[in-house]
Amino acid sequence: MYDISKVRTDFPILSREVYGRPLVYLDNAATTQKPLQVLDAMREEYLNVNANVHRGVHYLSQQATDLHEAARETVRRFINARKTEEIVFTRGTTEAINLVASSFCQWLTLNSQLSDRPNGTLAQARTLRSAQRDAFFRKNSQYEVLVTDMEHHSNIVPWQLEAQRSGGKVIVRHLPISDDGQLPQGDELDQYFNENTRLLSLAHVSNVLGTVNPIADIIKKAHEHGVAVLVDAAQSAPHIQLDVQQLDCDFLAFSGHKMYGPTGIGVLYGKEEWLERLPPYQGGGEMIDRVSWDKTTFERPPLKFEAGTPDYVATHGLAKAIEYMESLGMENIEQHERDLTRYCLEQMQTIPNIRIFGPMFNVQCSMFNGPVSFLVGDIHHLDMGTLLDRLGIAVRTGHHCAQPLMNRLGITGTVRASFALYNTKEEIDRLVEGINRVSKMF
Ligand SMILES: Cc1ncc(COP(=O)(O)O)c(C=O)c1O
Repeated sequence: MYDISKVRTDFPILSREVYGRPLVYLDNAATTQKPLQVLDAMREEYLNVNANVHRGVHYLSQQATDLHEAARETVRRFINARKTEEIVFTRGTTEAINLVASSFCQWLTLNSQLSDRPNGTLAQARTLRSAQRDAFFRKNSQYEVLVTDMEHHSNIVPWQLEAQRSGGKVIVRHLPISDDGQLPQGDELDQYFNENTRLLSLAHVSNVLGTVNPIADIIKKAHEHGVAVLVDAAQSAPHIQLDVQQLDCDFLAFSGHKMYGPTGIGVLYGKEEWLERLPPYQGGGEMIDRVSWDKTTFERPPLKFEAGTPDYVATHGLAKAIEYMESLGMENIEQHERDLTRYCLEQMQTIPNIRIFGPMFNVQCSMFNGPVSFLVGDIHHLDMGTLLDRLGIAVRTGHHCAQPLMNRLGITGTVRASFALYNTKEEIDRLVEGINRVSKMF
């Protein structure tokens, strides 16, 4: 049974006031609040365990290492990865995507130079079976990475940077979306893959439109074309039960702070064979096997991608956040948030001159639990957000780090309300009352 009053007591910040009014926190897509269970566990680790991980022979270091590696196992279980070796800790979704962009594009560039040479051999290329290698590294001058028109800048800019660095070997193309914010479906997708496409990187759930992409179908289609897929799960991991084996994605990224965990910690899942063959992202301690002036060799994944001291207290905090969500039950969380989102969309229909952005079916669809973006009449999103704030309601305004999407929609920004496991229908009533009140001021 989902006891919302009990849940809310785990998040003391929710009972504070702003401007003399009870806080209504609806900016969860930006970051979520943290339960006591996470905060207490992190405080306890700093108070009683703290020591650097992996390198120490002493008791505290081993205890800290155990907590850190237990967190990796918790993440593995949470997304149903095959092995803990497939779980790389990063600073967040952004760093996870930068890691793949950098290593994948470097690998493509290196190996395509190699395939332009007769009988070339390179360590990474050897890890591919030769038929697969020949198919992957064609003797052509350019490879393509596909993203979509609904991506967060974190899933656009890293690819653009790598394309520039590759000196023309890699280019970035984008999949279009329909006017109501959906990607091409089924066989319509075929036309966007060609013999040069090597990777598709896309959001599971849009941080603006709330579109829940049919990710399993898209991955299947991409694989039919020999294209690897990275899933940006920043907006799905907190809301939807993920299963990377069932999805069959090659990479998946998410951030701890958007799912009740601490800031500065995130996860990159990568299939073992990909993590084995890609070159390291950053160099430093922890990620090496042996270092000498002549030659340096690297650790196996995941340590190969984790240079330097990791935020081992944050990994423990992330594990506690996952355990917290699991204790409530991912299905219960999903159901609760769907009810909230549906209620919000229904109530918003009553607001004069409101425009809601995103798939029309969101309004009817009980499967929907993403953020809700809207504008009212010609009220600027910043004015709406600022005045709602004065009523104690925290929403986000602006382009939401998705300027190409804003250009596609022909707007400069939206107001966005986004929900978490602790929100209530009463809070949505406050939001709708607030929007009506602000609207009457203009
Ligand atoms: C879809 C999506 N991708 C990536 C990110 C970047 O996440 P982070 O800033 O935690 O790295 C966000 C953050 O809002 C997001 O919504």
